Amino acid sequence: MKELIEQAKQAVATAQKIVVFTGAGISAESGIPTFRGHGGLWKEYDPNIYADINYFRQDPTYYWSFFRDVRVQGLVNSKPNAAHKSIAELERRGKLITVITQNIDGLHQSAGSKDVIELHGNTKLIGCQECEADYIFEDIRQQIEEQMPPRCEKCNGVLKPRVVFFGEALPDGAMEAAAQHTAECDLFIVVGSTLAVYPAASLPLVAKRNQTALIIINLGETAMDEIADIRIDAKAGEVLSEIVGLKQQ
Ligand code: APR
Repeated sequence: MKELIEQAKQAVATAQKIVVFTGAGISAESGIPTFRGHGGLWKEYDPNIYADINYFRQDPTYYWSFFRDVRVQGLVNSKPNAAHKSIAELERRGKLITVITQNIDGLHQSAGSKDVIELHGNTKLIGCQECEADYIFEDIRQQIEEQMPPRCEKCNGVLKPRVVFFGEALPDGAMEAAAQHTAECDLFIVVGSTLAVYPAASLPLVAKRNQTALIIINLGETAMDEIADIRIDAKAGEVLSEIVGLKQQ
């Protein structure tokens, strides 16, 4: 492990145009459960019911009850951890092109990252399915304790977080921007993802096709371990702060 961390340190020290690609594992040390791997949410909650757009349209109460009972605590109380802060530090040093995240928790921005591509949206933004009115999570926090599903105060339409459900398209332009930055970078670092969900998971393949060095930091196996130049099987918070040289506060 020490040798691998040293190699990753060298790669980060010499790179000038780094792209970091993150998944749920980077927020695990902030108290937000992952979807897969040890204790993953999808072991207990079927994503075909709780994260599928067609199921949501049939009966939005399943998702909203899951959101209220399982997701809200983590999203409201979580703080960025050493991994998020280490990535923000890379941007501060001018070594980072962007963070491409699958996460919807906003913790990269809370850690100080300015250039973040949220491939799967952000759960703090809520929209009306009928009139497209915009809300933020705080607007509906009380409502979801009293009624299911939450409804638009303008047209009474059903509300939905502006996050990408299975069966939905990614936000306009998100993948194009992510692929563009991936093609330009000189080091691609995956942190906390099983690399199981497309099109997001195609990005490490774009990097490898461009002969870009690929580092994967993940607790447990990923779908692309065999193409990683450096593969570190460890917790992101501990390892990234050491690689970046950020003292853990
Ligand atoms: N540090 C690093 N990795 C960790 C940590 C940690 N502290 N804790 C857990 N992990 C690992 C898990 O073992 C797992 O391999 O992080 C990985 C998270 O993988 P997933 O839960 O599959 O998350 P992700 O890859 O982001 O999922 C992609 O799937 O359900 C959809 O839309 C959802 O964006 C999500 C997408």
